[in-house]
Amino acid sequence: MTEKAPNPFNPSVPATLRTFVGREPELKIFRQKLSFAENGSPAGLAISGDWGIGKTSLLVKYEMIAKEENCFVVRVGTLSPDIDTIKKFSRLIMTNFLLKCNQMRSLSLIDENFEAKVNQLILDANKKESPLLTDRFVEAAPAIILRDFIEAFCKIAKGKFNATVLMIDELDRLNNAEGHLMFLREIFQRLSESNTNCLLVISGRKILLGKTGGEFAPLYRFFDQILHIRNFDLKETDQFLKLRLNETKVKLDDDVIKKLFDETEGHPYVLTVAMMILYQELPEDKKLINFEYYQSLEETIFFQISETFFKPTFKSTTPGAREVLVKLAENDKEILEFSEVVSQFGKYGSEISPYLAELVRKSCLFRIDRGKYKFFHKLFRRFVLKQDKSLINPRKISRKRREDTGATKLS
Ligand SMILES: Nc1ncnc2c1ncn2[C@@H]1O[C@H](COP(=O)(O)OP(=O)(O)OP(=O)(O)O)[C@@H](O)[C@H]1O
Ligand SMILES: [Mg+2]
Repeated sequence: MTEKAPNPFNPSVPATLRTFVGREPELKIFRQKLSFAENGSPAGLAISGDWGIGKTSLLVKYEMIAKEENCFVVRVGTLSPDIDTIKKFSRLIMTNFLLKCNQMRSLSLIDENFEAKVNQLILDANKKESPLLTDRFVEAAPAIILRDFIEAFCKIAKGKFNATVLMIDELDRLNNAEGHLMFLREIFQRLSESNTNCLLVISGRKILLGKTGGEFAPLYRFFDQILHIRNFDLKETDQFLKLRLNETKVKLDDDVIKKLFDETEGHPYVLTVAMMILYQELPEDKKLINFEYYQSLEETIFFQISETFFKPTFKSTTPGAREVLVKLAENDKEILEFSEVVSQFGKYGSEISPYLAELVRKSCLFRIDRGKYKFFHKLFRRFVLKQDKSLINPRKISRKRREDTGATKLS
């Protein structure tokens, strides 16, 4: 009896060294930034991309590259909204340095002495959080403490590592993400004055989007490279599928690869969910995923993606924005022009634009150009079309129901 290999498609697990594909331009830029840091000029790099597009996978890959380059890497991930102050954020970063040291010492990658020195830095930082400071200084203290910590850490690490890399994933999840970003910029800007060899990589949904001017201008200059992560192209989709299936005996027909690319638009999360189901449902004695088999599961795939991905996205919108979204889904053009949208609604542009802005902010729509919009995924548009209209705007519907039952106006 042949045993089926474990399913290589798990949408909630980032790509590994063996399964990572594509992103050549993003890897090239990272290597350049790393060499800046190794030569004593601190650098910043920001990764921006929508849900499930591959941000964490890219950071994991960066981590591997930096380790090969003999760098000390701290990757702070899965930020929770509890981290709601600069002080907590600062402590979280320092704790992550310590945890990393701990881990590396247990693997004999650093010695006890190194770990003890870092431990001492944390103790020093705790002492600096003195209650004697006046209110004015309490505000500034976390920035000074963290800067001193990173600077001192980099000095300890210098003889042993070529650079220190700090990566912070999911920054957009924090309340006051912008305040946290300014805080990080402040620290790294100051570190550049002492030629500390460190690199800061941040990532999140729509990070730094539209923050080029005003108080954000210095931030934008520091993170001069904002990498916008996109869907896979057909070649990357093909590589993604073949690389993962390599670990199994299962093959895909070429027309299925093409169809998968068309339907998923090369979105890494959507692609992974589709393949997870196709692989999972394949009988043990079958080794080929052909077009007919794909079609038999098309609706199951759509249902699964809707439940895990589209529903939460849709539910995050306000009733007014949802109503606009449904109307847009009914319009069968791929590119939606603002002027047409306005006339479709028979309202003023100023009434519609806040909803469009919300839909872009919540990743339901892409703004592809001035006044031009697109659904973030064609399957999402299909999902929106299928929504029960009574869920869209309960206020309006209930008024209509009242009218239908004759219980109008008096109530
Ligand atoms: N470059 C890649 N190579 C191979 N697989 C990838 C790549 N990028 C993403 N994937 C796969 O796509 C799925 C989503 O990736 P990942 O978790 O990295 O996205 P994300 O942008 O961090 O998502 P979220 O917005 O939920 O944090 C995972 O299953 C991952 O393995
Ligand atoms: Mg992620």
